[in-house]
Amino acid sequence: MAASDLDYMKGDIQALRKTLMNAESVAVLTGAGISAESGVPTFRGEGGLWRNYRATDLATPEAFERDPELVWEFYNWRRKLIGGVQCNAAHHALARLENLIAKFTLITQNVDGLHFQAGNRNVLEIHGSIWRVRCTRCHLTTTDRSPDLGPRPVCGSCGGLLRPAVVWFGEALDPEILGKAVEAVRSCQVMLVIGTSSIVQPAASLSLEAKSGGAVVAEINLEATPHSRFMDFALHGKAGEIVPRLVEDWS
Ligand code: OAD
Repeated sequence: MAASDLDYMKGDIQALRKTLMNAESVAVLTGAGISAESGVPTFRGEGGLWRNYRATDLATPEAFERDPELVWEFYNWRRKLIGGVQCNAAHHALARLENLIAKFTLITQNVDGLHFQAGNRNVLEIHGSIWRVRCTRCHLTTTDRSPDLGPRPVCGSCGGLLRPAVVWFGEALDPEILGKAVEAVRSCQVMLVIGTSSIVQPAASLSLEAKSGGAVVAEINLEATPHSRFMDFALHGKAGEIVPRLVEDWS
């Protein structure tokens, strides 16, 4: 870790744990980093995400228009990969945290469904779910957990081409889900921001909303992010090691 990153580290795990123990309202924002220890690749790691493509080459409406079979090949690869992984200690710790806090909202940018698998209930999947598909013709959205939907899956209702029900670059988030996320961060006392590079909007601005609403804001990440400087806590390390320690010995 570079010396400049160390400068941004603020607070310690025990102080954040005590802050959480006194909170009645907690919001959490997670990104790809929380699933990294389960074996799901992050978006902005070394090299391309899949066959040297970057997410921004494939996760766009333009890419799907141009070559739906390539985009489906990418999503079928991700379905197979994600379908074979297990939630990790950080996911389990957040499920425990939901049971300890009166008002708890988990906002995730991840489409892998691992927070539900771990047992969290109040989850806002602001970028959608890889396990849902939407018809490009009749817009019917259905759940389908098959590992491979083939090169050109079609709608069982109207025969139109299906697409993953995820939010692609350049697309708007569902306003109802985003509205609930904004309400949760504006009204929380503590916000945890875990495993996200904090560069994709509007998710990245949620921690700023929480801060301006008076919340204590804490980042847990392998490294410093553009938001570390305004965080009340910036804890750098693996989510799977730090998050479980926040929910230890509460009784
Ligand atoms: P990124 O891949 O941009 O960032 C992952 C973050 O997790 C980085 O800041 C890493 O330092 C951190 N990280 C990695 N492993 C970690 C670990 N074990 N513990 C803690 N932190 C760790 O992923 P996101 O921020 O989620 O959007 O990306 C945001 C959005 O951009 C995604 O939802 C997706 C993407 O392109 C769409 O597809 C619309």
